Amino acid sequence: MNITVVGTGYVGLVTGTCLAESGANVTCVDIDVQKVEKMKAGIVPIYEPHLDVLFERNIKQGRLAFTTNLEEAIVDSTIIFLALPTPPGEDGSADLSYILGVAKDLGDLITDYKVIIDKSTVPVGTAEKVATALNNALDQRFSKESNERPAFDVVSNPEFLREGFAVDDFMKPDRIVIGSSSDRANEILDKMYAPFVRQGNPVIFMDEKSAELTKYAANSFLATKISFMNEIANLCELVGANVDDVRKGIGTDTRIGNRFLFPGIGYGGSCFPKDVQALAKSSTEVNYDFKILSAVMDVNQTQKTVIVPKIKDFYSGDVSEKKFAVWGLAFKPDTDDIREASSLYIIEELIEAGAEIIAYDPEAMENVKNLLGDKIDYAENEYDALNDADALLIFTEWQIFRNPNFEKISSMLKEKVIFDGRNLYDLDQMNELGFHYNSIGRKEITQ
Ligand SMILES: NC(=O)c1ccc[n+]([C@@H]2O[C@H](COP(=O)([O-])OP(=O)(O)OC[C@H]3O[C@@H](n4cnc5c(N)ncnc54)[C@H](O)[C@@H]3O)[C@@H](O)[C@H]2O)c1
Repeated sequence: MNITVVGTGYVGLVTGTCLAESGANVTCVDIDVQKVEKMKAGIVPIYEPHLDVLFERNIKQGRLAFTTNLEEAIVDSTIIFLALPTPPGEDGSADLSYILGVAKDLGDLITDYKVIIDKSTVPVGTAEKVATALNNALDQRFSKESNERPAFDVVSNPEFLREGFAVDDFMKPDRIVIGSSSDRANEILDKMYAPFVRQGNPVIFMDEKSAELTKYAANSFLATKISFMNEIANLCELVGANVDDVRKGIGTDTRIGNRFLFPGIGYGGSCFPKDVQALAKSSTEVNYDFKILSAVMDVNQTQKTVIVPKIKDFYSGDVSEKKFAVWGLAFKPDTDDIREASSLYIIEELIEAGAEIIAYDPEAMENVKNLLGDKIDYAENEYDALNDADALLIFTEWQIFRNPNFEKISSMLKEKVIFDGRNLYDLDQMNELGFHYNSIGRKEITQ
């Protein structure tokens, strides 16, 4: 089975590598020349746990190759994945220019039957637009009646992988959603995905529009769950309740479930913010006011910097001359992705207020350096960041921050003060250790 994956980001590279691991011959194509050179040299261009082992193995065994040449990449493949960016346009709707641009290129190039699989997150109706772009390009090469005009099917196959667990999620998906009205395409995809659903995880077939909406519905529902819990946490602080207890109290209800109930400093990343926004925008386009989504976005925007007034209050409104150690920059642990990370919003507000920042993140430092340069300082490790800092601020719940050497923290900080945006530590322990400890939705520990 020969497969092409167009776009080698978090989704495309994981998709290509995992499909190669199942025995397919995969060619990945990207317009980023440097990235392709890196991959050809055996370097994984992103941080994603466990990807490197599969990447190396499949390159070595000749099943995974990289190119910048789309024509060369598709010539032997029946299956073509589009794993291209769909960033928010100025009005919040998904920018389809990458997808439709490649669809046109495919229309200029294909010579035999292809299944074009849209793996990007795209608004309802995109499969149709992709088909139209291909047909328009084919019209330039062939008449509608021509026997030589190649056939194609466009399938919507949204991806549900989570960064940080992407390999596991792809290899053992909860479900695979296939939106297609073509039996020929369905058969091809069914066969391709068979190795990944041997344990009985469902492949759910539906029409293209339903598949496209399923992805937005999933991400928007999860974002809603997060924003709901963040509001409960804010309320806990005001009424003196403990969000940990409330979380356990509701999470044990199987109708609610215990996942995605941890409060914090808002959701970020490349998916939830843009997908909620895009679903809201597509709803307005059909004159539907999706009220919950507006609230979810509002809540999240506020929550991203909810920690800033707390920090300012602690220093009586003046954080100029203060130096803060930051642990965690990535939008979540186990990734180097900083897109829409809350850390960036908080850091910006603190710098604006005159504070100095020295940060450490296990994987995201390079990306932040490229973005912020010398606006902040960067530490060699988590303890280095503490040197001479007034307080420790925690923005990402990396595993290595969960059980640190508190004696070392106490001895290095100027004052024993922690603002924890991810509720990593136990309140009693913080009290016993003599920290001033402020977290989300829980009692503030004062000394
Ligand atoms: N990142 C996630 O966790 C995740 C999960 C599920 C779905 N998605 C969706 O999948 C899509 C891709 O997301 P991503 O995070 O992998 O994006 P990304 O930005 O990490 O990667 C996109 C890649 O496409 C390449 N590209 C751009 N134009 C190209 C072209 N014309 N030809 C070839 N390559 C081109 C870029 O150079 C880049 O390498 C988005 O729609 C996203 O919403 C992402």
